Amino acid sequence: MSSWRKLAVAAIAAACIPAALGFAADKGPLRLGTTPTAAQVEGWAIAVRPDGQGLPAGSGSVKDGDELYANVCASCHGTFGEGVGRYPRIAGEGKLTGDRPEQTVQTYWPYATTLFDYINRAMPFPSPHVLPPDQVYAVTAYVLNLNSLVDDDFVADRNTLPKVKMPNREGFNWIDPRPDTHDAACMSNCRPAADVKVSQTAEGKTLTPRTTGPLDTAMPQ
Ligand code: HEC
Repeated sequence: MSSWRKLAVAAIAAACIPAALGFAADKGPLRLGTTPTAAQVEGWAIAVRPDGQGLPAGSGSVKDGDELYANVCASCHGTFGEGVGRYPRIAGEGKLTGDRPEQTVQTYWPYATTLFDYINRAMPFPSPHVLPPDQVYAVTAYVLNLNSLVDDDFVADRNTLPKVKMPNREGFNWIDPRPDTHDAACMSNCRPAADVKVSQTAEGKTLTPRTTGPLDTAMPQ
């Protein structure tokens, strides 16, 4: 298609599609889309921060979570959070050092608030966003209890979750100390390109695994 035709098609599409979809286009170069309403933004803005900001109203107890967890979570994560088949184990102690780090809510998660966020946005795995806030609070409380982090009478809500101290909270490097490259960035007075010599390349160093042949020797030795 010639470029003026493409332009014409784009212009017609920009003008007609919003009208066909039944909403008025806002101003803007393409005249597409509308400014989202507060209710629409609210539907997407579900992030809960470590300090608890964003936690919804509502509450749920360990007790409330007991049956709910059995019905909607245990089929994958096990009755005691031990994990079924290859689904992740979410409860219990374990070591993070070693070839197979044992990441459970107890050993790994730094905040109970972001555990709520994760369950709220991603679980139950095949159909997330089906549990109302009270039920997410309840299963979060229950998972914390399975990990011996809260008592049996704990009630999770926007005040109590930020106060739960997770055992590995201090175990994270929040800022990655490793440089991306070992050269400083250069925007002026840079080294002349002719002086830059390539001293090494990855070629011939068997860094790339083989993609054919037996698997046991496929990785570079
Ligand atoms: C159909 C299986 C399935 C069901 C049901 C399910 N999950 Fe999960 N869950 C998963 C999978 C798979 C992952 C890992 C997802 C990933 O890493 O991307 C996961 C991850 C998690 C994690 C994070 C584990 C970690 O430390 O990385 C938590 C916590 C969790 N699920 C809680 C729940 C809760 C609570 C429910 C019930 C409301 C639930 N899950 C229901 C499959 C399931």
